[in-house]
Amino acid sequence: MNVQRTHSADAATVEEALAADNHQGVVDSEGATALAMQNTLLTPRFYTTDFDEMDAIDVTPVRADWDKLIAQMKSDPNKGHFKKNEDWDSVDWENMEPRLKAEFIDFLVSSCTAEFSGCVLYKEMKRRGNNEDIVTLFQLMARDEARHAGFINDALREAGIAVNLGFLTQKKKYTYFRPKFIYYATYLSEKIGYARYITIYRHLEKHPEHRFHPIFKWFREWCNDEFSHGEAFALLMKTDPKLTSGGNVLWIKFFLTAVYSTMYVRDHQRPAFHEALGVDPDWYGQEVFRKTSAISEQIFPITLDIDHPRWMKGLKRLQRANADLAAAKQRGSLLGRIGPSARAAMAFVSLFTIPAKKHAVPDTTRMEPAY
Ligand SMILES: [Fe+2]
Ligand SMILES: [Fe+2]
Repeated sequence: MNVQRTHSADAATVEEALAADNHQGVVDSEGATALAMQNTLLTPRFYTTDFDEMDAIDVTPVRADWDKLIAQMKSDPNKGHFKKNEDWDSVDWENMEPRLKAEFIDFLVSSCTAEFSGCVLYKEMKRRGNNEDIVTLFQLMARDEARHAGFINDALREAGIAVNLGFLTQKKKYTYFRPKFIYYATYLSEKIGYARYITIYRHLEKHPEHRFHPIFKWFREWCNDEFSHGEAFALLMKTDPKLTSGGNVLWIKFFLTAVYSTMYVRDHQRPAFHEALGVDPDWYGQEVFRKTSAISEQIFPITLDIDHPRWMKGLKRLQRANADLAAAKQRGSLLGRIGPSARAAMAFVSLFTIPAKKHAVPDTTRMEPAY
């Protein structure tokens, strides 16, 4: 009998990708799903928004750039890419150093949840919308994220783990963000995703001896998808100048500070992972922030001053406070949480109040991946 196996990498739509064999929970892992279910400040969340307001966006002011971007996404250069092929070296999960294994699985589960969170949000916008431009864009982005999540799940499955994505869709708590916050947060998460993946990819090009898992070989095409998604959100914001001026600049600063500092704290929870990659997390953080800031000048009128003397100090204070908070939680000490929480809040305020760098925004947002 000829059994046709389908894979999310070959799917043309998000529906097809989610129905593919590799998206079905062949192995169900309670631990991984529980990890993905967590909602803390540091774990990826699921979002919902005012879909009608988003559906009402008129892309006429950015039409020429919009059509080019959509045509490029429709041409689908990465179709078929996100699955194992002969470049996929076998992974010795059994003998992986236990701390590295735990941190790497945590990295994969959290990446998979983040990819899937994008997929769910974009798919819902596509389902609820009537605006042809918006529906088309969100269908294309949801397709990509479903492929990315499916591919990470392939990697996890080799370790005997799978995140139950269907269960997550049903049961994970959804956080409501009004559309403008979705633009800031999602734009930044797409662009910082690009910067994170390309920085690791380029580092491992120079130091292949640190490539302890084959999935990193896929990071270049991967981050190009994220780059395009970020371009789309830049164009959406460009349709309404109010979104990036006046009082909203403070919101932009807030999201920049929150996204950067969350990344810093989360990465410092995985020392063995970064050591195996041969990457100093302080260097990596600054490198990723620098790239993300340079890109975000396409649409944001400010960037954070990450060379300010208070920046690194503030991040380190935040990270220590967070570690102490986690320890207090582990001990079950409610009282013990007060000090670290207050210290974390003060560190965040100190970061947030560093004067931002202002600059003029170009007339057209369009950029190509350059790193
Ligand atoms: Fe993605
Ligand atoms: Fe994305």
